[in-house]
Amino acid sequence: MLNIDPTTTLAWTKLQEHFEKIKEVEMSQLFSEETERFNDFSIHWEDFLVDFSKNRITKETQQLLLDLAEECGLEEAIKSYFGGESINRTENRPVLHTALRAKNSDSVLVDGENIIPEIFEVKAKMQAFSDAIISGSTKGYSGLAFTDVVNIGIGGSDLGPAMVTEALKFYKNHLNVHYISNVDGDHVHETLKPLNPETTLFVIASKTFTTQETLSNAITSRKWFLETASQEDVQKHFVAVSSNVQKVEDFGISKDNIFPMWEWVGGRFSLWSAVGLSVSLAVGFQKFNELLEGANKMDLHFKTEPFIKNIPVQLALLSVWYNNFFKAESEAVIPYSQYLQKLPSYLQQAIMESNGKSIDRNGNPVSYETGNIIWGEPGTNSQHAFFQLIHQGTKLIPADFIGFKKSLFEDKDHHDKLMANYFAQTEALLKGKSEDAVKKELTTQGLKSEEIEKLIPFKVFEGNKPTTSLLIDELTPESLGKLIAMYEHKIFVQGVIWNIFSYDQWGVELGKQLASKILTEIETSKVSSHDDSTKELLNFYLKQ
Ligand code: F6P
Repeated sequence: MLNIDPTTTLAWTKLQEHFEKIKEVEMSQLFSEETERFNDFSIHWEDFLVDFSKNRITKETQQLLLDLAEECGLEEAIKSYFGGESINRTENRPVLHTALRAKNSDSVLVDGENIIPEIFEVKAKMQAFSDAIISGSTKGYSGLAFTDVVNIGIGGSDLGPAMVTEALKFYKNHLNVHYISNVDGDHVHETLKPLNPETTLFVIASKTFTTQETLSNAITSRKWFLETASQEDVQKHFVAVSSNVQKVEDFGISKDNIFPMWEWVGGRFSLWSAVGLSVSLAVGFQKFNELLEGANKMDLHFKTEPFIKNIPVQLALLSVWYNNFFKAESEAVIPYSQYLQKLPSYLQQAIMESNGKSIDRNGNPVSYETGNIIWGEPGTNSQHAFFQLIHQGTKLIPADFIGFKKSLFEDKDHHDKLMANYFAQTEALLKGKSEDAVKKELTTQGLKSEEIEKLIPFKVFEGNKPTTSLLIDELTPESLGKLIAMYEHKIFVQGVIWNIFSYDQWGVELGKQLASKILTEIETSKVSSHDDSTKELLNFYLKQ
């Protein structure tokens, strides 16, 4: 991969000049001038329609952004990514979550060895295990079939499978799948409270099997289990997903009950691996596999489609445009589906842990903005919460609107209402409301002209707020797989352009180290040297 400071490229200089010219341009004006605007700035691919015409761009912007991608070596970088080069250089690892959804006939080499057969072996093990638990042929220690699954993990070992389990709830079977992540004891005890140990299966997901939260929750759960069961029964009720076999065995789970993970899968991109076991248990392996197939389709699209019609590339370039030229600090993701309520928090880890970096690939501090802040909530709930700020606040917040043509229960009345809001919001954000329109509206309501003049400034909407609409046929395992993979590749493209390493996460280490030191101090009631604030807080806590 090239290590180019994007601000030194010709395209960047031109983008800067171009930005000065178009920063005030109204999108509504562009729509009235460009009859082909929708066709020029939308991509219809399989069951996805991605409309980015409601963005503050022209054809020149698009071309300059594509030039930037070219100067930053995006094409070569994509080859390195899929080809298994060690692009995670600070950890000296390839980044191959894409291999997890590759086809059986594909070949992906790591250290000269094809990893696909091993991936398929693990998938076969997941399938056999899921089938046996779902059908009830594998039973708990007292001879009863399993009714509940508890996934214990955090970060990538929780957010991905939890988000997908929620998103595919419509397709789920009789098993109730719960997720415990926080080291907050109330989380684990509250989750275990209604469960029956005889019918509960635990999946401990941790790539490293050293994560404090996961180990504490696993130990507490085992203790709870052993209140009624015996030590030998642990093998029937506890399985692990990890790349650290030794640590799992030390915990007391036998080799047969370990689903392996590999160094070349980053935690936040691991839901496609055996970390997806809880998903496979919730909806069956077949549906889990459809999720992988969807992601694989997006991989092929990303790998082969010219950049001008390449969904992840276009979305990433737009994000760079707003982040680095408009200086927009955050992006909102608004799914118009309650099933996707966990998508924004899943994307927070995927995007912010990946691109929240300030050192470039040469080891120098960057002189430009990198990773954006991601947030969001489903529509229409979010309309009644934070949309006021998007419409009339002082910040520019580009937003992705994700909607579906068909609802799963096919309640047309509800779905039409939901989607009417989806369409209305992006239109309102585009057009705003002019002074004239406000005047007319208030006059019709019978207000006096004096009152109208006073109210006008508050009731005017500036508009010209950028949105990208993703309209997908239906929420299925396959379309969800495509959607997640789309954001994964968007992250990659942004990392390439910002010249940062997207696949490490050293920034989470310091807090972990300090927490373990402070825990010893709390346990021994001996507070050592800290800044005054931390010291006083600790003393206050210990006085309880
Ligand atoms: O938060 C840091 C992190 O390393 C994430 O990247 C990862 O997803 C999470 O912790 C959990 O790690 P593990 O799967 O090793 O328990």
